[in-house]
Amino acid sequence: MMEHPKKERTFVILKPDTIQRSLIGDVIARIEKTGLKLVASKFIVATEEQCWTHYNKDEEWFLKKGARIIANRQALNLPVEKDALGYGRDIIVALVKFMTSCPIMLMIWEGNQAVGIVKKLVGGTEPLSSDVGTLRGDYTVDSYELAGFDDRAVRNLIHCSDAPEEAGREIKIWFNDKEIINYRLVAEQILYDVNLDGILE
Ligand code: PPS
Repeated sequence: MMEHPKKERTFVILKPDTIQRSLIGDVIARIEKTGLKLVASKFIVATEEQCWTHYNKDEEWFLKKGARIIANRQALNLPVEKDALGYGRDIIVALVKFMTSCPIMLMIWEGNQAVGIVKKLVGGTEPLSSDVGTLRGDYTVDSYELAGFDDRAVRNLIHCSDAPEEAGREIKIWFNDKEIINYRLVAEQILYDVNLDGILE
């Protein structure tokens, strides 16, 4: 039988910049207030291997991103020393360095449209263009251009899954089944239940 839509899960990482800027509580509060349920969490120092498995980008992604970096460098009159593939790969090299530099917080959130709701709240990948009102739009100042200029990862506070299948793949990298808790939140009654008997006294 198909799983109920309220069981959709998304995977979230509070990256080193969230931890170092004391924004853990703010970010969690924003996600929590949507009505999504926290079903797993841990605070860890990630290994490079875990990060490379997590960011499993293919050659097409490296080429697409790398080509944009080359165009930016040309516009800024910076030297172009690698091909698009090299610059594309460098994004993940820098990102892995960033993600392993400090503890990070891993979480799984569950609820109807969990992936889409968290994506909407987190905002677009690049802080410069993420909407006002989103976590990245409100709490960061970084841009791809600056990150590229200084040869480092873009500091965009949070990772969240892009699609439910992707969430499933990512969750398996970071959590085992025993670490994910099935339980009911009292608030779920008003969020999801059809029968609301038992509220009025
Ligand atoms: S995209 O645009 O959806 O394909 O990219 P995404 O899958 O979100 O990217 C994965 C991570 O790579 C980082 N990223 C970049 N860093 C620097 N420069 C550029 N151009 C760039 N593009 C992507 C970004 O931090 C993404 O990390 P997460 O953790 O997923 O936000």
